[in-house]
Amino acid sequence: MRTLPFFPPKAFAAERRKTLELVRRIGLDPAQRFALGPAVAELERVISEQIGARHAVACGSGSGALDLAVAGVRIEPGDEVVVPAFGCQPIAGMIVGRGGVPVFADVSAETLVIDPDAAEAAISPRTVAIVPTHIFCTMADMPAFRAMAGRHGLAVVEDAAVAYGASLDGLAAGRWGDAGVFSYAQFKPLGGIGEGGVVVTDDDEIAARCRESRRHHGMDELTARFLLLRHAGFTERMRRKAEIAARYDEAFAPLAEAGLVALPSAVPAPGRFSHVYAVLTDRRDELAEHLRAQGIGTHVYYPVPLPRQDAFARFGRGLFPRAQAVCDRNLAIPVWPGLNDDEVAHVIRSVLAFHGVRPGRIPG
Ligand SMILES: Cc1ncc(COP(=O)(O)O)c(C=O)c1O
Repeated sequence: MRTLPFFPPKAFAAERRKTLELVRRIGLDPAQRFALGPAVAELERVISEQIGARHAVACGSGSGALDLAVAGVRIEPGDEVVVPAFGCQPIAGMIVGRGGVPVFADVSAETLVIDPDAAEAAISPRTVAIVPTHIFCTMADMPAFRAMAGRHGLAVVEDAAVAYGASLDGLAAGRWGDAGVFSYAQFKPLGGIGEGGVVVTDDDEIAARCRESRRHHGMDELTARFLLLRHAGFTERMRRKAEIAARYDEAFAPLAEAGLVALPSAVPAPGRFSHVYAVLTDRRDELAEHLRAQGIGTHVYYPVPLPRQDAFARFGRGLFPRAQAVCDRNLAIPVWPGLNDDEVAHVIRSVLAFHGVRPGRIPG
């Protein structure tokens, strides 16, 4: 039986020889500069040019970049920051780390991103910032969040960790915030060997504060050189992911009646991109087991809403029904660019078979 793991196997096999050359080159370089050297400076230049930001500040991870951004926009102890109730831990954790208070807002049941109305309802006189976070394949409604920030005098930290290369209304993800954050961890759109992150901003003072704060978590030279190497194939890899997502969208559309909702990832719409392909279903565990028996790996992202996690219990647990529903119902399926058409068809056939649907023509 063929096996299709959820995360891409041998993701960097094509770069193996060059990676070893990089290790040798950097390791033997007489300068012996292993972090925040010329490769990091070059990567910062490439990223700021690519997305049109005045500054890019590279560091050791996306979480590190969030931490720098929190420092950059001057979130201080006791300040409240509105964050989504559905997402990964560092979104709230990095605020707590600087003494801030995360205030959770529910998400949209359709797109899974933070809901602007819920976010606005969470603003108090102590609120200083909001963290709209792009999730899976959809950017948060950044025009709404910018307008809200203007109305209430708030800073926007745009968590674009998973959305490098996406755009909305012609403006790149990362540029809508006062500070924008990217992650370059292994399985992110532009993934590296190990971890990496970048803050982008047009604001000189925010950039200076981020640079000041990164002293102990800068990016290493090998990561930066590797990301520069991978940057060349980025557009093609994302094109292939979008193509696979479009096939899934078309094939799964008839399953809505059977209770499977495919998050629209390939439909041209503002702020769409193709990172994670997820479906929502009440039969999540059964479907995952069925796919596992077919050799297909799946992944459940964020099974517990942030406000229900012990780490954040002291900030008030509240009720976040939509975040809870997407935590209970989301299941991500493989969408890596190396999947061939037969493998994509195998995934489609397996999902259809679970729902008792005989495949007609497999989209492709
Ligand atoms: C939305 C979001 N923000 C922040 C991060 C943290 O990035 P990193 O894993 O590079 O620390 C992640 C990582 O998954 C993420 O998905």
